[in-house]
Formats: sequence, C-alpha cells, structure tokens
Amino acid sequence: MRVVTGIRPTGPLHIGNYLATIKQYVELQKQNECIFFIADLHGITTPYEIKSYRKEVLQKAVDVLAAGIDPERCILYIQSEIKEITELAWLLSIVTPAGDLRRMTQFKEKAKKYPKNVNAGLLNYPILMSADILIYKADLVPVGKDQKQHLELARTIARRFNKRFGETLKIPKPLISESSAKIMSLKNPRKKMSKSDPEDTYISIFDEPEMIKKKVMSAVTDTGRSIKYDPRKKPGISNLLNIYSIFSGESIRDLEKKFKKKGYADFKKSLIKLLTDKFEPFRRKRKELAAREIYVKEILKQGAKKARVLAEATMEEVRKKMGIV
Ligand code: TRP
Repeated sequence: MRVVTGIRPTGPLHIGNYLATIKQYVELQKQNECIFFIADLHGITTPYEIKSYRKEVLQKAVDVLAAGIDPERCILYIQSEIKEITELAWLLSIVTPAGDLRRMTQFKEKAKKYPKNVNAGLLNYPILMSADILIYKADLVPVGKDQKQHLELARTIARRFNKRFGETLKIPKPLISESSAKIMSLKNPRKKMSKSDPEDTYISIFDEPEMIKKKVMSAVTDTGRSIKYDPRKKPGISNLLNIYSIFSGESIRDLEKKFKKKGYADFKKSLIKLLTDKFEPFRRKRKELAAREIYVKEILKQGAKKARVLAEATMEEVRKKMGIV
C-alpha cells in the first residue's frame, strides 16, 4: 500500500508524539511504499520565527531520521519543495465547500488561540493537506485523532473532484493513532503530555541522561507509597507505570509485582535507567546526523526528486480533466 503522511516541523519529539507518530511510521515503512514529508507550508499558518524556520525544518528532518525513518525504504522530503502540491491545493479549492472549512475544529481552535492571525491559510489548511495526500493517490494516511476531521474532508474533496471532473483521485483511508492520548504530563498527570507545555512536563526521545533523570525525579507522584496502576486515584504513578511498560515491553501487572516491595524512589531510578538506555541509539544517531548536514540535504533532495515524478503524473491528469492546458 502507498502510505502518505506529513510531520509538523516545530516542537520537540516527546515520547507521546513519538509513540503516536514516528514509531508507527517506522513499522509501516517495512511493508509499504511510504512517503513522508516535513509540512513546512502548514507550519507557517500560525505565528513562527522567520529567521530560524529553515533550520527548524531541517532539524525536524534530522530528528525523524534519527528516530528510525529509513531513506532507503521510503521517500522523505520537505513539503515546499514540491510546487505541484500548492498548485493542486488551488485546484482542489474549487471543489471544497467553503462552509466545511469554517466548521473544522482545528480552524476554530486556532482562530480562538490566535485571534489577531485568522488568516485564510489557517482556513485553507485542510485543502493543502488534501493536496499532500491526493497528489500521490495514497491508500493509507496515518494521523493523530486531531487530524481525523481533516482526513474526512480530504475524502470528500476527492469524491467531489471525481464526480465533477471524472474518476481521477483515490479516496484515501485514515489510520488513526490513539496512543498519544495515554501519555500524560509529568507535572499534571490528568492532562495529556504536550509540547506546548513547559519542558519539565515531557520527556523527549533525544533528552540527555541528566535531563531524563531530572525530569523523572521531579515527576509528580501520588499520596501513598505503593506502585499500583490506578489512573483515577494514582494518576502520577499510573502514567509512569504506563511509560515504563511501553518502553520495556513488560506488562503493567508484572511491573506492579516487580516493584511490590519497593518505594517511588527505586521505581523512578529504574525508569530512568530504562529510558536512558532505550533512547541512547536515538541520541547517538541524531548527533551523527547533525554533523552530516550535506548528507541529510542530499536525502531530502533525492526524496523530493522521487516525489516530484509521482506528483507531476497526477497533475498532468488533473489539469487535463479540469480543462487547463
Ligand atoms: N496537519 C498534520 C498535523 O498537524 C500534518 C500534515 C500535513 C499531514 N499534511 C498532511 C498529515 C498530510 C497527513 C497527511 O499533524
């Protein structure tokens, strides 16, 4: 199957993110034809740092490569490199119901969050996203729950296009990842781990050992002293148990047994060691790639070259169907 998905360029790759996105993509790339890109044109719909943006986008490419995206197995590129996508976005806007755009939850949320910056790009965000997907005739699109509505719109747009201009675009299927919801903030375990919260509330897969130690040690625990999974009464320990279980592969039940006679401090120490060891390859790979900028840029260039061939083929068809030279 052909799998296509975009990765937001800004913010750190915290463990909640990682589990919901890259970890899944690394699995998908083993069996499928995967196309991944850094969505730099989506990233500018909300306020951003102009001077450092290019660097952030490249850093994100380094991060996903360090986290296991394999350029030998899939296509990786920067969205803005494929001009055909922005062209398709315009053409798709012709079959996009304007009312649907205004009803999108993400649009409403972002418009509320940035009342001084309710630009048309924020409104048209899902059209560009549809172009990202439809241009490759994708079969499957892995996204987080928050993007499900956008994917439904992409399907609607494809159907409307086909109805009006003739069978051309493939209707993609969503693959919704649920796991990010389960990793909670280290400081407020009733709230999801989020990259827009202060740094001490999340762990990044690239955190140095001292940082992991500091964050885990200062993570909120609960009253009492038993290591027991009870998200309602003991949300702090339950969250840490869940993280432990995911990265060790041990069941929560087994962990409860293992730490039955131990206190919070021992449990945390063990978790620190686990995460430090588990993330070591990520840190190492990231440092390696950081020192090889030319190599990374070449990967992205080759990725864009391959993607462009596929994109151009769809565009020729789309232009013809729409009666545009
Ligand atoms: N909007 C997606 C997000 O916020 C990123 C994205 C851009 C995307 N284009 C895409 C995801 C196409 C899937 C397919 O995470």
